[in-house]
Amino acid sequence: MASNGLSVAVVGATGAVGQEFLRVLSQRKFPIGQLTLLASARSAGKTATFNGRTYTIDELTETSFAGIDLALFSAGGSISKKFAPIAVEAGAMVVDNSSAFRMTDGIPLIVPEVNPQDIGDLALGRKPGIIANPNCSTIIMLVPVTPLHRAATVKRMVISTYQAASGAGAAAMAELEQQTREVLAGQQATCKIFKQQYAFNLFSHNSDMQPNGYNTEEMKMLKETHKMWHESAVRVTATCVRVPVMRAHAESINLTFQKPLTEDDARQILCKAPGVSLIDDRSNNRFPTPLDASDRDDVYVGRIRQDMSQDGNTGLDLFVCGDQIRKGAALNAVQIAELLV
Ligand SMILES: NC(=O)c1ccc[n+]([C@@H]2O[C@H](COP(=O)([O-])OP(=O)(O)OC[C@H]3O[C@@H](n4cnc5c(N)ncnc54)[C@H](OP(=O)(O)O)[C@@H]3O)[C@@H](O)[C@H]2O)c1
Repeated sequence: MASNGLSVAVVGATGAVGQEFLRVLSQRKFPIGQLTLLASARSAGKTATFNGRTYTIDELTETSFAGIDLALFSAGGSISKKFAPIAVEAGAMVVDNSSAFRMTDGIPLIVPEVNPQDIGDLALGRKPGIIANPNCSTIIMLVPVTPLHRAATVKRMVISTYQAASGAGAAAMAELEQQTREVLAGQQATCKIFKQQYAFNLFSHNSDMQPNGYNTEEMKMLKETHKMWHESAVRVTATCVRVPVMRAHAESINLTFQKPLTEDDARQILCKAPGVSLIDDRSNNRFPTPLDASDRDDVYVGRIRQDMSQDGNTGLDLFVCGDQIRKGAALNAVQIAELLV
């Protein structure tokens, strides 16, 4: 460890999540002594600013992790698969944003508001290892749903997502912007990242389709919930959709509980829940929007109402919005790192 703080590497520093890492680390005054910014050969030599200082971006190589205490990975699954073990071997603690290790036995999958205890005995400097950051839609769902689960035990969840362009990275954001200009100018929309026109449209999530008819994003919400809650009894079904929003995902969540839970009790629980803010103003029809959640740490919750199709106050509906680059990725990873410092 550098005498004035930790030696931290950001892998994928030029990406949507990587750039957010720099903002979050600065805003939270993370104790950084030395900062190393890594990306592909394409970006080597470019610069980025952190706390008013200019840093040169280096190409990620097998020797990048000498002397690094903490490596924050957001460069895609194949990069994590190859380089995260190399970083651990060099003595670094890795917090990984990709899906590479999320379902690997023995690798903790952590949301600090949900299961911080699962970090176990991993410790900076003493026992390095890999900690996985869950999928962004799963994080945004579980931050408000877990305290309700603790109170009344969720039996079943039905989720519909409305996911932003930024969830697919910096190039997808640029594509949405370009297509919007093109369509407004009466031109054909250029489709490079997504197969279909994104501006003024929406479509089923672009992740791989499985033989069971679910896409991988939907399956992650099921599998990751089971892993983090340490139980496979809860039933989860999701429909994930990309909407032409630049930043912050929204989700409609329908819950079935084992025990009754009134909407008033749910509201009280959510008012006190860490990482949750309420926007639930029925009289003004004012509920969370992606713009409310953009650039914010909390997951915003509204439309809290008893599901009238379920008997005995055992059903509840919620509408939530969360910034998936921030709480769904960079912030959650930095919060994990803070648990280790
Ligand atoms: N966006 C989100 O909301 C979100 C949320 C949760 C998790 N994630 C995960 O975070 C990861 C990054 O996502 P993103 O949205 O930030 O993507 P992005 O904007 O496309 O950024 C990708 C980053 O990876 C780097 N990279 C690509 N190939 C590389 C290589 N061969 N060697 C080293 N670096 C390489 C890129 O560097 P160059 O600029 O040099 O190409 C860039 O810094 C993905 O695994 C994604 O699933 C994203």
